[in-house]
This record gives sequence, C-alpha cells and structure tokens, in this order.
Amino acid sequence: MVWTADAIPSQEGRVALVTGANSGLGLATARALSARGATVVMACRSRRKAEAARSQLLEVGLTGLDLLELDLADLNSVRCAASELCDRYGHLDLLFNNAGVMAPPRTLTKQGHELQLGVNHLGHMALTLQLLPLMQGRHDARVVTVTSGAQYFGRIRWTDPSWNEGYDRYGAYSQSKLANVMFALELEAQQQEQESGIRSLAAHPGLARTDLQPTAIATGGNQFEALVYRLMDPLFQSADMGALPQLHAATAETAQGGEHYGPDQWGGMRGHPTRCWIAQAALDREQRQRLWQLSEELAGGLLMP
Ligand SMILES: NC(=O)c1ccc[n+]([C@@H]2O[C@H](COP(=O)([O-])OP(=O)(O)OC[C@H]3O[C@@H](n4cnc5c(N)ncnc54)[C@H](OP(=O)(O)O)[C@@H]3O)[C@@H](O)[C@H]2O)c1
Repeated sequence: MVWTADAIPSQEGRVALVTGANSGLGLATARALSARGATVVMACRSRRKAEAARSQLLEVGLTGLDLLELDLADLNSVRCAASELCDRYGHLDLLFNNAGVMAPPRTLTKQGHELQLGVNHLGHMALTLQLLPLMQGRHDARVVTVTSGAQYFGRIRWTDPSWNEGYDRYGAYSQSKLANVMFALELEAQQQEQESGIRSLAAHPGLARTDLQPTAIATGGNQFEALVYRLMDPLFQSADMGALPQLHAATAETAQGGEHYGPDQWGGMRGHPTRCWIAQAALDREQRQRLWQLSEELAGGLLMP
C-alpha cells in the first residue's frame, strides 16, 4: 500500500519548524503538518513571502502557523532564529532542513562561503546544532534533512569547497546535496552514540514542480537549460507529492534514524515514499567526519549555540 499524507499520525501538541516554508515543498510540508494538528513554525527569509504563504493556509482553515525570520545565508541570522525559537517555545519536536537554492551564478554568503554550500549545508547544520538542545528529551524528536538525487553526482571539494576556482553551478549544487546527506547520517551516528533519542533522517523529493528550477533558470540559466526543463516537465510531480518523502521520514512510525526516503517510481523521480539508496561517500564515516570538521572550520565558531 502506498503512503500518503492521510497516514500522518496526529501531531497535536507537537512543534515543527520548516525552513523555506513559504514555497514549494516547504509550504506543502507546513500544510500537511498543520492539517494534522502541529504547531508549524514557518522559518523564511522574506517576511512578505512568509505572510502571504501563511495567509494562503489560514484561508483554507488551517491554524497553529507561526512565522520566524531566518536567512540561512547568514550564520548570525541562524543564531538569532534559534534563540528566538527557544524564547517562544522552549522545545521542538520536528525540524525540517528543507530550504534550498540551486545553480545560482557564483554568490557568497554573509560569511563568505559559496551560496549553495552556505545555505543548503552550513546554514542548516548550524540551525540543527543550535536547536538540538530544544529537542532533547522530547518524545520521538526527529531532524529531516532534504537532499536530492544530485547527491549521487556530488563530490566534496576538500581544498576549495567555495569554488574559488572553476565554479560550476550544478557541481556546487551536487556538492551541497551530498553534504546534506552526509550531515544527516553523521548526526544520526552521533545522536545514537550519545543515546539522545533524537533521530536524523534524509529525504529527497524526486522531481517536483516548485520555484527551484524556474529560479535557477531566471538567475543563472540560459535558453538551452530552459528548453531542457520544458522537455522534462511531464516527469515532474506536484509539490504535495514531492513533500511526501520528508513527511514520511518525519512522522511514519516505521521510519528509522539514518534512513533515506525518496519516490518509488521512475528511478526515484516520482511516486510515493520508499527507502532509497544513499551516495557512497555518505556511507563512509571517515569522510562524514572530515566534512563535519571542515564545516566547523568554515563556520569559525558560528555553528554551535
Ligand atoms: N523541486 C525539486 O525537484 C527538488 C529536487 C531535489 C531536491 N529538492 C530540494 O527541495 C528543497 C526545497 O526546494 P523546493 O523545490 O521547494 O524549491 P523552492 O520552491 O524554490 O523553495 C525553496 C525555499 O528555500 C528558501 N530559501 C532559499 N534561500 C534561502 C535562504 N538564504 N534562507 C532561507 N530560506 C531560503 C526559499 O525562499 P525564497 O522564496 O525567499 O527564495 C524557498 O522558501 C531544497 O532543499 C531543494 O534542494 C527539490
């Protein structure tokens, strides 16, 4: 039997934070969790877009939607957001590291890291490490980090992670998505060693019709890329379908820490959630620990609370 959003158990009394909740998979995730009774903190960088997204959900009768300002391209903003969440709730049950940026022209974050590495990986790593104390001791607390099929093509550029040389828009995206799954697995290993009870899982949506590809084309693409996406369009599923693997990872009773979920059809491009394979580099603990250390060095003290 396929898993759908109807299978999400009641989330009454639980607090979930979703990054990038104003659009695409984040918005679909917020909608599904709110419909099951969760308090959903929509963590977004644009107050205007966040308010518009919340209004959209309120109009269909959903409740328990809170807004939090978060710019993952600035580790100081991440720190402020984590501290604000602590003041407002004092605890957290579910964290969705969902927000993402794909294939922009080479841009740097506030701290000088390549944007995709900074937003997709470093910002989420900092957010997670700063929110873990709020998840400690909560029943069935889970962190879900959203990766992509691009992880399978990813390679960590150990000596030049910010692409000072030879920037490749999709190479940098793949690196960041490999980093996402490496982080998710290493976090799981560490939480198990500490017997914290907090679980960490990864999920990818396959191909989902969101703002991700249009933004990539508008900011850094060309006519050929636009044509390729137009030709691929029939393969894309809805944002609601694309959000199912992350919702499954976060709420299904059967989902275990360290697992990776994605769609079950067309080689993982579309369909309902199923367990799927993990990029080889992420299975290697030495490489994961090396990335953890590199991330700490890059963030220069801004990862931890
Ligand atoms: N759609 C797909 O086919 C696909 C495939 C594989 C993986 N994914 C992954 O799915 C996740 C969600 O993407 P999506 O498809 O839903 O795309 P989307 O519709 O473009 O949503 C991306 C979200 O991330 C937010 N974001 C970007 N930069 C940010 C920053 N500096 N700080 C905070 N938030 C920021 C965006 O905010 P703004 O609206 O303000 O820009 C938006 O809310 C991403 O991690 C992506 O890599 C998507």
